[in-house]
Amino acid sequence: MSGKKTFFITTPIYYPSAKLHIGHTYCSVAADVMARYKRQQGFDVMFLTGTDEHGMKIEKAAKEAGKTPIEFLDEIVIGKGGITDLWALMNVSYDRFIRTTDDYHVSAIQKIFKALYDRGAIYKGNYEGKYCVPCESFWTEAQLVDGKCPDCGREVRDEKEEAYFFKQSEYAERILALYKEHPEFLQPESRKREMISSFIQPGLEDICVSRTSFKWGIPVDFDPGHVVYVWVDALFNYMTALGYQNDAHNDLDKYWPCDVHFVGKEIVRFHSILWPAMLMALDLPLPERVYGHGWLVLDGAKMGKSTGNVVDPYVLAETYGVDALRYFLLAEFPFGIDGNFTNELLVTRINSDLANNLGNLVSRSLAMADKYVLSEKDGTAKDLFGDKRESYRANMEKFAFQAALSDVFDVLSRANKYIDETSPWVLAKDDSKRAELAGVISTLLATIRACAELLTPFMPDTTAKIYEQLDKGARGVLFPRIETK
Ligand code: MSP
Repeated sequence: MSGKKTFFITTPIYYPSAKLHIGHTYCSVAADVMARYKRQQGFDVMFLTGTDEHGMKIEKAAKEAGKTPIEFLDEIVIGKGGITDLWALMNVSYDRFIRTTDDYHVSAIQKIFKALYDRGAIYKGNYEGKYCVPCESFWTEAQLVDGKCPDCGREVRDEKEEAYFFKQSEYAERILALYKEHPEFLQPESRKREMISSFIQPGLEDICVSRTSFKWGIPVDFDPGHVVYVWVDALFNYMTALGYQNDAHNDLDKYWPCDVHFVGKEIVRFHSILWPAMLMALDLPLPERVYGHGWLVLDGAKMGKSTGNVVDPYVLAETYGVDALRYFLLAEFPFGIDGNFTNELLVTRINSDLANNLGNLVSRSLAMADKYVLSEKDGTAKDLFGDKRESYRANMEKFAFQAALSDVFDVLSRANKYIDETSPWVLAKDDSKRAELAGVISTLLATIRACAELLTPFMPDTTAKIYEQLDKGARGVLFPRIETK
């Protein structure tokens, strides 16, 4: 054992059926920022992401494309311009990538399903209910909105078939106790209220966990014809990826329980009810926290194939730059609530924060250091941070990325003002003010260095450039202003 503190963070595993859009990128970038932040703090980080590759939706999409499911999946997951390429482009520094079609995961899920069955947590019955095909979700009549799927608004249909059920109904009290005894388990607070009032208080139902109407899933090995419900298959990725019920990996003891699952708000219910209930059924330790973030929306509607309003992260990254995009996603919107994405907001952020504030400060400060032949070490730096460092850390610890970034940008603004207040060009004219001038330059460069450190999890490429400018004499514009008509 290294004795190093560990930090295990996950994103949801993505459905490869639809083209990924900027909304999907949101969670991966946020998790990446957190992973980089914790690594910077010396934690031994496990950042897990991957793809959720089973289910009727994939089976259908592959068929429509004239491919086998795995051909279809390989192209979208590991093919050119696919999911792993997108994460590479966005600098998403995951430590492990799981595909639920990986052999080790498949056999582990079969063992897990059997263990749940052997413990009496799963039983065989008949399923009759409302099913949303695209969402692969069962709903009760009461949960439907205008008779349609409450998640995507599409038609649901009646389904009846022999199926296995998980006794979710038995866990309501324990889940409520979990929320009460561990208020940090589900965040933000609003999500907890929603889970209680929409799902737990109306009465938790047993949940159908096997299907016989399609084949593209993990077979229940003791009952041919049944495949494991995608959410059981998907949720356990968080443990199989570490070696639970398999030998492909061996770090479950080191990283489990998970420090935080980042998930979009519509899948909070799976992560904060079904997931802990299944873990309780197997007497396994529960994750420490689930954070349900908001959606990026376009004119109020969730982005996605169904509504057609997809915003392509490749196009955005190429147009504006990866770091500008990463910064924008976390600076513009509070993580816990929905944010309306517009190009205008993106351009304004880039111009005001990155070009005018950060970029200007760096170029003005270095230009003066060059002109007056002074370095960071020539003077005594003043602290322009006040309590902003502590505030930044506190905000990062509670995933308040927007507030953490404001803390840093407040310091950068302060440093820009400091230039105007101290007027180094006036000091430079007077030889007796040389020490004072050296102090000013030192303050500016030290402030830039310290801010770069705090910005590194958000904009790793940009801060690498800043360090090159500070330490290696490199020069250049960090963020050109984007002209708007
Ligand atoms: N496969 C499941 C997750 C299983 S986790 C055990 C799934 N996949 S998904 O590809 O549909 O969505 C992945 C994540 O992207 C979800 O957390 C979802 O909320 C998020 N987003 C999809 N569209 C989004 C926005 N427009 N904005 C923010 N997040 C969005 O769900």
